[in-house]
Amino acid sequence: MTFANDGYQVLPNFLGSLGIDVKDLEKYFQYRFNFSKEKITTINNSIKGKPEVAFYSDPFMEVILEKCVAPFSEIVGCDLFPSYSYTRKYSCGDELLIHRDRKSCQISATLSIAFEGTEINPICFSQSPDKENAVALYLKPGDLCLYRGCDLWHWRPPINNDWYLQSFLHFVDADGPYKQFKYDRRNGLGEPEPRISVKLDTNNQS
Ligand SMILES: [Fe+2]
Repeated sequence: MTFANDGYQVLPNFLGSLGIDVKDLEKYFQYRFNFSKEKITTINNSIKGKPEVAFYSDPFMEVILEKCVAPFSEIVGCDLFPSYSYTRKYSCGDELLIHRDRKSCQISATLSIAFEGTEINPICFSQSPDKENAVALYLKPGDLCLYRGCDLWHWRPPINNDWYLQSFLHFVDADGPYKQFKYDRRNGLGEPEPRISVKLDTNNQS
């Protein structure tokens, strides 16, 4: 399995290679999800199940996003711009429906952080929307899978653990057709989601 041949590649224990203990990251996000008022709790059309619980642009994940630019550029074979990070906590029964990603997610990665239960929930890929020749990848906490988010169809079967925590890291080709989506059209890393900023501006005017 190589990125060049398959459009995806698993990097086992990627987080450890950055010198980060996945248990510490799990604890960090426990605090964030339990106590932060910034988390997103909305209906997401790509998820069948409960309203989504997530963080766009968590500051620490944005740091990791930046650290991934050099090693991922080498694997993908072109210079990358970071786009944005997104950390989602799935609940039991949630299903990520089959989809391809928007332009800001040309090159994507999913980082497995933690789950409560006994079975690893896979992420699945196919070249076509009918799930032909699908592959299911089972990532342990700390493992990461890099994939072509705009090209490969991907989904998750219903989560059969109490919860599952993972982060997406998104990039665009620095010389490609989506290079204007650098930072997901924000001014820089760490900024909130653009559409949330618009909402806040509206609130300020009223
Ligand atoms: Fe996706």
